[in-house]
Amino acid sequence: MSLEEARALDRSDPLRAFRDRFVLPEGVVYLDGNSLGALPKATAARQREVVEEEWGNALIRSWTGAGWIDAPQRVGAGIAKLLGAKPNEVLVADSTSVNLYKLLVAASRLSDRKVLLTEAGNFHTDLHIASGAAELVGLRLDIAPRSEIERRIGADTNLLLLTHVHYKTGERFDMAAVTARAREAGALTVWDLSHSAGAVPLRLSEDGAELAVGCGYKYLNGGPGAPAFLYVAEHLQERLDSPLRGWMGHSAPFDFTDDYRPAPGISRFLAGTPPILSLMALESGVRSFEGAAMDALWLKSAALFDFFARLMDERCPELVCVSPREAERRGSHISFRHPNAFEICQVLIEDGLIGDFRTPDILRFGLTPLYLRFEDLWRAAEACAAVLRSARWREPRFAVRGKVT
Ligand SMILES: Cc1ncc(COP(=O)(O)O)c(C=O)c1O
Repeated sequence: MSLEEARALDRSDPLRAFRDRFVLPEGVVYLDGNSLGALPKATAARQREVVEEEWGNALIRSWTGAGWIDAPQRVGAGIAKLLGAKPNEVLVADSTSVNLYKLLVAASRLSDRKVLLTEAGNFHTDLHIASGAAELVGLRLDIAPRSEIERRIGADTNLLLLTHVHYKTGERFDMAAVTARAREAGALTVWDLSHSAGAVPLRLSEDGAELAVGCGYKYLNGGPGAPAFLYVAEHLQERLDSPLRGWMGHSAPFDFTDDYRPAPGISRFLAGTPPILSLMALESGVRSFEGAAMDALWLKSAALFDFFARLMDERCPELVCVSPREAERRGSHISFRHPNAFEICQVLIEDGLIGDFRTPDILRFGLTPLYLRFEDLWRAAEACAAVLRSARWREPRFAVRGKVT
């Protein structure tokens, strides 16, 4: 496959214009949108407006005048479109970790069953949060290998916690089938959608999903440390109580009452004052999807994956692809195994190809259809082949590990 063929694919890409919505530095191929989405051009202008006008000039009047107070629900409704959920079923608040804690504790109290089941090798914050929540409410945490999860769902399972698209391999669970299997056994499922939202087509309502959380800073392009979202199916909302009873989740925060009365619906899952600047950046990030249907994005993601996987098979056989080849079994990133994945990743970054490393031996590339071109992937495969040929990664400086990998 030649660069010309890659360019021809770009010319016929119906989503090619979306790339112009993003700031993408010259000389960089950015394949890390699954960790930190690129900056939408609209975000910089919008942040200036929020800071200078809404905060600077209008000051505290902006809580109502600029709609700050409703932003968690409004931005949640925007995200709901990407999740196949109803607008009143998604709320933006806190971090994924904190939202997970709130949902696990709240949902566990609906039943007296004693097991919280999750996957070994799940993203570690999920396991840590699950262990803390389980300890608090008196559940036993059962951490099972992926192949055993469905078999272990039983009469004692209170909650099943799964990450829909695995952060390392990109493997994807069948949400409808697993949720139904848990429900038949009398358990609720909590999905972590951090690597799914804005990446794969989701149909939470149709698939019968009950509870979910996810990040704002990856495919949703909300910026570093963007607030996260949580989803609670409408039929469960009035039955759940947040364990973090903050004033913003009160039915009348400005009544300043001593007693706690949860807000109706999903708003009860707010705790403290929402981070308005970050919320507005997330809103711009979510708006960068406007005009692109999730199904069209997924078609492009699948084409990008196939194109890159074929190039890498040809040019870099030393890198072993660990992501499923079948589109319906994976997310929107592709991962390779190599004993020196860390060092290789550092050389690639120095050369302007930004992917990331996940311990102990995974080199991971995010394929974000909103702003990636086939040409970028052609260049990425060339860069990988050149680094492997040159063995530059053996230089000791590339083995130095920073705080963030
Ligand atoms: C699956 C998954 N869950 C959660 C997180 C992080 O959550 P938080 O928003 O609390 O930092 C990540 C971050 O990469 C993730 O991949």
